Amino acid sequence: MKRIAVITGASSGLGKEYAKAVEKQLAPDEIWLIARRQQQLEETAASLQGKGRVIPMDITRKEDMDAFTAMLDEEEVQIICLINAAGMGRIGSIASQSRKDTVNMIQLNCTALAEMTNICIPYLIKGAWVLQIASIAGFQPMPYLGVYAATKAFVQSYSKALHHELKADGIHVTCVCPYWIKDTEFIGIASEESKDYAWMPLALKRSDVVNRSLADVRVNRLMSTPGLISSTERYLSRIVPDTLTMKVLDRFRQIRK
Ligand SMILES: NC(=O)c1ccc[n+]([C@@H]2O[C@H](COP(=O)([O-])OP(=O)(O)OC[C@H]3O[C@@H](n4cnc5c(N)ncnc54)[C@H](OP(=O)(O)O)[C@@H]3O)[C@@H](O)[C@H]2O)c1
Repeated sequence: MKRIAVITGASSGLGKEYAKAVEKQLAPDEIWLIARRQQQLEETAASLQGKGRVIPMDITRKEDMDAFTAMLDEEEVQIICLINAAGMGRIGSIASQSRKDTVNMIQLNCTALAEMTNICIPYLIKGAWVLQIASIAGFQPMPYLGVYAATKAFVQSYSKALHHELKADGIHVTCVCPYWIKDTEFIGIASEESKDYAWMPLALKRSDVVNRSLADVRVNRLMSTPGLISSTERYLSRIVPDTLTMKVLDRFRQIRK
């Protein structure tokens, strides 16, 4: 039986960083690297010690997910780590956002994440790690990042339930909720159409997020909030009403525009 790690979003950003860290910490027989861009996936594979397996696919396409399911069926694998890092966001008002972006965000951040998890669950073994990449945006509604924030609220709720359900099987599930991360492709793509939220003080580095969240999943923490801002927002969101948070966020947005 091959012991494998499965990482979506492995062509850049967090997914690429996770691949290197998982190789060191878990020494899987293979790391299945998933994203659409083959060349970038090959670069990720080249940064590993020969364990990377490039699987170019679009996780929002049914045909690709069917083919991936068949691959898992055909090969004798045990999944020791699943990291759902693929995701995208678009800054801007809900009204100004295109129908395509709206649907893409929901399909990628919610549907594909849940579908990939569902496909992989039968192969997860005792002690396996599952990291679901959400965001602090999921702690409260966020005007001008409304659809994205709603998708991450879904990831948080779904992952908390999964953590509870898989605990008895000894499978660790951690929902990772970072604040802005400056050294991935995410912010560039998110702010292509709008410069709302152009101010991102104390943005994190992807290595901080990866190191903190892997330490958290090791001890089976429900949530991982890397850095001071992420942790503070997690606790504030429990006591500050959403209406007040939205007013404050909007004030900052207007000052910094
Ligand atoms: N960066 C931040 O500020 C920040 C903050 C909080 C949370 N997050 C979350 O962190 C996660 C990772 O983002 P990142 O910062 O590492 O951004 P990133 O560098 O843009 O990475 C996103 C990854 O998703 C992949 N992807 C996009 N659409 C896909 C599709 N249809 N099928 C398969 N793969 C797809 C991309 O690869 P291809 O284009 O090659 O398909 C890429 O590898 C996301 O869930 C994001 O929401 C980011």
